[in-house]
Amino acid sequence: MTERFARLKDDFRKIFGTNPSVVVKAPGRVELLGNHTDYNEGFVLPAAINVDVMAAGELRDDEIIAVYSANFDTKVEFPLSNVEYDTVNKWSNYPRGVIQALQDTGARLQGANIAIHGNVPIGSGLSSSAAIEMAIGFLMQTLLGFEMSGKDMALIGQRAENKFVGVNTGIMDQFVSRLGKKDHALFLDCRTLEYEHLPLNTSEVKIVVCDTMKRRGLVDSEYDLRRSQCEEASRLLGQWIPNVHALRDVSAAAFEAHKDKLPEVIRKRAEHVIYENERVLKSREVLRANDYEAFGRLFDESHNSSRDLYEVSCEELDKMVEICRKSPGAMGARLTGAGFGGCTISLVKNDFVEAFQKAVKTDYEKNTGVSPSIYVCTAEDGASVVANDT
Ligand code: GLA
Repeated sequence: MTERFARLKDDFRKIFGTNPSVVVKAPGRVELLGNHTDYNEGFVLPAAINVDVMAAGELRDDEIIAVYSANFDTKVEFPLSNVEYDTVNKWSNYPRGVIQALQDTGARLQGANIAIHGNVPIGSGLSSSAAIEMAIGFLMQTLLGFEMSGKDMALIGQRAENKFVGVNTGIMDQFVSRLGKKDHALFLDCRTLEYEHLPLNTSEVKIVVCDTMKRRGLVDSEYDLRRSQCEEASRLLGQWIPNVHALRDVSAAAFEAHKDKLPEVIRKRAEHVIYENERVLKSREVLRANDYEAFGRLFDESHNSSRDLYEVSCEELDKMVEICRKSPGAMGARLTGAGFGGCTISLVKNDFVEAFQKAVKTDYEKNTGVSPSIYVCTAEDGASVVANDT
């Protein structure tokens, strides 16, 4: 952390000729449970983790935003009065989108010099994009000192992603990147945006992320397709069940009574979402009771449902999950995030974490010829100030 911080400050000085006045960071996340439930106004259980985007900044006297990315070693500049989509430096559309979304909602901004560095692996399903969005939003808020709740900042990030970047995601990633809590998972009701932090006792178990190294393909088109299938499911079920606005409103009992009238694919999608919501609700009890055996079982059930009913897994994810489940200390494993590649998460007993990693690495390599990245992650705070007046 301190080394990255020092390097980012150096980069800032090199590019802009001064010290930054503020440095903030915003984390990536794992989705512990709640696969594709957020845009169905359901429940999710993510945790912010120990990889992040760090952003250093200072205000300028004009109306220009300049952003340097240390990862891409590139700087972009744009005026506040005309924030345009950048087809060349695509990474810059996240900062651009956040700046535009802040202005859309009435915030009066000022020019700024910004340097960012992220260590959230890109395209692996750990939400590097939400981390950039929340780092930029939180940096601007800290620099300018305007009032904005964490919830509203998360909505700014989602707006940037939906309206500017053009990806139709739900609210989970931005919400936990802004409002996560150290050593806790975050339970979120995606309709009311009420939330609760639940203890994740990391001395007993660890969350281990295994990257299949398969970069997510198909995500945007298949993601949109899943969304519309869910809307169709809720529309059809709403003909027979009162007050259905989203799949969130369909209880398991009502679904069972009417499911046979649904077309096969629509039934499968709805079944996944409805029971996944139940699993997230159950996880609240399970975490309050520190019952990790049960928590791990929910991971397994969730993956099986994402694979068989929601059909967002892929060969590499299924292979990784299969290997993780039989490795030492494993209590459960599932894909995390949108799917179609990226990472799995496993719940692993603390004493077995090293043996687990070794076994997974060897086995996955033997099966696929690819060496996976493996991270033992800790639950961290959401966006925070790293330094003021550096
Ligand atoms: C991506 C989206 C989230 C959520 C997950 C699937 O991470 O950004 O909003 O829909 O996929 O649960």
